[in-house]
Amino acid sequence: MRMWGGRFEGTSDERMAEFTRSIDFDDVLAVDDIAGSIAHVHGLGRAGLLDPDEVETLVAGLEGLRAEVEAGKLTWDPALEDIHMNLEVALRERIGPVAGRLHTGRSRNDQVATDLRLWLRRTIDGLDAAVVEMERALVGLADREGEAILPGMTHIQPAQPVLFAHHLLAYVEMLERDRGRLADCRRRANVCPLGSGALAGAGYPLDREGTATELGFDAVTANSLDGVSDRDFVVEALAAFALSMVHLSRLAEEITWWSNPRFGFVRLADSFSTGSSMMPNKKNPDPAELVRGKTARVIGDLTAMLVLLKGLPLAYQKDMQDDKPPLFDAAATLEASLLVMAGVVATLTVDRDRMRAAAGEGYTTATAVADALVRRGVAFRAAHHVVGALVAEAERAGVGLDALDDATIAAALATSDDSIAIALVGDVAVPGELRAAAGLEGAMAGCDVTGGTAPRRVATALAAAKARLGQ
Ligand code: ARG
Repeated sequence: MRMWGGRFEGTSDERMAEFTRSIDFDDVLAVDDIAGSIAHVHGLGRAGLLDPDEVETLVAGLEGLRAEVEAGKLTWDPALEDIHMNLEVALRERIGPVAGRLHTGRSRNDQVATDLRLWLRRTIDGLDAAVVEMERALVGLADREGEAILPGMTHIQPAQPVLFAHHLLAYVEMLERDRGRLADCRRRANVCPLGSGALAGAGYPLDREGTATELGFDAVTANSLDGVSDRDFVVEALAAFALSMVHLSRLAEEITWWSNPRFGFVRLADSFSTGSSMMPNKKNPDPAELVRGKTARVIGDLTAMLVLLKGLPLAYQKDMQDDKPPLFDAAATLEASLLVMAGVVATLTVDRDRMRAAAGEGYTTATAVADALVRRGVAFRAAHHVVGALVAEAERAGVGLDALDDATIAAALATSDDSIAIALVGDVAVPGELRAAAGLEGAMAGCDVTGGTAPRRVATALAAAKARLGQ
């Protein structure tokens, strides 16, 4: 039964067999393994190691297996360790002893490295689509709630008002970088190790380049030892996945706060919320919380992979079999998180009034008022000081900066050590200018730089995002 059993006596200890097999998780590589095998058979044919009839029989058998896999009809035998040996045995059961020629010039070491790269390539394509879906949800919400104003924060304290759309588009930027990282990783992973053999290179003049081209790879690996033991692409993928999860987790954290009735900025749809078994009043943002929680696992997956590799000498070591559970787990977790967060965001209801009221709390337009003084020639540091005094005065009076009267403004200017500020005391237009800058709209309009929250800049950014996403 054991394909490597020639030198062994007796049977494997069941504990050992169960401990060392990977079929419980590597069955997801079946279609990739078959694709790799078909290309390898063609290569063996080109090298004259198989005659045309054998090539035809093997390829037909492998295609039949693929159909069975796709139909979910193939069952795996745990005694056969892994997906590679399961498929080889299944092939022999269907086409007979010629199946024994398939593994010519190939080891499971270059085979699994090839399979994993093929799997990653198609998985990244699926993840990219999920990231795009998440971006569409954010852009859709930004478009719908284009007017909403959010209290922008630093140190979790009120800082400056920003358009809610501007805030959402910040996440679109993060996700676009995530797409770039996925694409980079895919490009570096798209190299074919087949022909590396177990470690020293196949013992036959295989046309490695032809096989790689057939499989859609951009190149072949340049060193057989590296070909079988390189798992950089797994680390890179996990790093990209983990960072993408971190981005989702940050948004999830914000959504949990925003949906707290104290804030009351957003409401999650009932279809994306859960209740409590005990407290009838509860409505919980579970999907957001779980995205935040699962981020820990994906970071753990990355850590596991780095630690797995750090002590491994060349070339293949069995430890490497354990690259798969973290990689598969992280990819599935990221995809599910992207899709559920896209749903959360797409169905979010915004309370613009609550958001707007909060945006004005905490004298968030003070910077804009100082900027207005600077536009009149006052040195920024002096303007900062004058407006600081105005904030203190407004706080004492219990009013907003936009409600300060002319006399209070004149008094604050008069105490400045800046001669231009003092000269502005008699200018009747100044108090009105400062009060205008102290309004939320005026404050945001002042941030009129590329990437700023001035509504016209945000409109441009939103239009660009929509065009990119075909929305
Ligand atoms: N199941 C193995 C893995 O995933 C396949 C490679 C096994 N190679 C070996 N020499 N035992 O790593």
